[in-house]
Amino acid sequence: MKTLKIGLLGLGNVGTGTYEILAMNAAKISALTGCEIVISKVLVSNINKKRSLNLPADLLTENAADILSDPEIDIVVELIGGIHPAFDYMLTALQNKKHVVTANKAVIATLGDELMSAAAASNVLLKYEASVAGGIPILNALSTALAGNEFDEIVGIINGTTNYILTQMTDFGLNYDDVLKDAQAKGFAEADPSSDVEGEDVAYKLSILIQTAFGLKIPPLSIPREGITKVSKDDIAYASQFGYKIKLLATAKKNGSTLECHVQPALIPVSHPLASVSNEFNALFIKGNAVDDLMFYGKGAGSMPTGSAIVGDIIDIARKLDCLPCCLTPQISAPTKLIFAGEGKSMYYINFLVADVPGVLGKVSTIFGDHGISIESVMQRSKGKSEGEDVPVIYILHESSRQQLDPALAEISSYPFIKEVRSILRVEPLN
Ligand code: HSE
Repeated sequence: MKTLKIGLLGLGNVGTGTYEILAMNAAKISALTGCEIVISKVLVSNINKKRSLNLPADLLTENAADILSDPEIDIVVELIGGIHPAFDYMLTALQNKKHVVTANKAVIATLGDELMSAAAASNVLLKYEASVAGGIPILNALSTALAGNEFDEIVGIINGTTNYILTQMTDFGLNYDDVLKDAQAKGFAEADPSSDVEGEDVAYKLSILIQTAFGLKIPPLSIPREGITKVSKDDIAYASQFGYKIKLLATAKKNGSTLECHVQPALIPVSHPLASVSNEFNALFIKGNAVDDLMFYGKGAGSMPTGSAIVGDIIDIARKLDCLPCCLTPQISAPTKLIFAGEGKSMYYINFLVADVPGVLGKVSTIFGDHGISIESVMQRSKGKSEGEDVPVIYILHESSRQQLDPALAEISSYPFIKEVRSILRVEPLN
């Protein structure tokens, strides 16, 4: 039986999971591929560090060249993360005619084309299923089983950290700061959570999804994004009274030749399948013009789920070792115009803090009407407030664009009875 040698760059969470899956399911993997797949070298930053895996000492190296320049290694698996040196290692591996498997969303979203050209020039494969939504095989599904569709819509919860925080805030009525601290203590959030909570991690993943589904390359950090740091427990409670949950959504919606995309916290009806996706779980809701609605659900992070995606890519490479060069941007009828958040129309949730004086609701509603914006529901909460205390007023508005909404809000805010516009959130319609 042929032996296929793997060089692993990084032995953290996902590297350990990958190692364990290859050992645990070795017999099945050999039967599927006709190869014995062995990890022959592992790059680590400190070979003397204590690890949960008991590995032979000669398997470890602190020198990347021991893997990248070893002619016996067939596949390099990059699990270091970050742009550099991960990108440079992958480029060298591809130039040295090694297939590459990675979970690195930042590199694929920003420099994927460069790597793909290097892979094509060397006639090897670059695979990155694990870069989006961990264990959910979404890229594979979009580019193989669903490839016969034109896609109309992808809406996803693709960050476990923020979904965990929002779920805890919703279920237990807690503040963002308190949940974040608890999530960090339990290992669900990083010590520096900024990439997750500010929406950057989701923007990288959305950019890869858009390229795969719509054939459009968008620099990930140009996708309008808003994280969850400003979502308050009050907004979550008000949304719930209207029959909605607040989720951090990655959205790409095609309409003719335009594609609307953004990363934003938004209200989704409790009856929508995405509303029941809780804690660290991820899910993607997809609409294809043949298959219609689809929902993918699973663990978007973690050692074994993400390792599962890595091992799937390794098996795929093993099965087509005489592969043809692949293409990062599928040749499909790509949308020609991008519309970013605000340019498209959406329903909106607005949370005002107002003085509790006569005529406020009438005035605000009139101004919305003057700007052509129709009101779906309104709620004022004065219960429990003492006389003279400011009160929250919540509007759910029918569809408008930010070009319509922003001047209306500016006019409303010019009145002294408006103390604050506390939140403006998109509302996803019921399908
Ligand atoms: N930090 C990500 C999340 C997992 O919380 O979902 C890796 O992409």
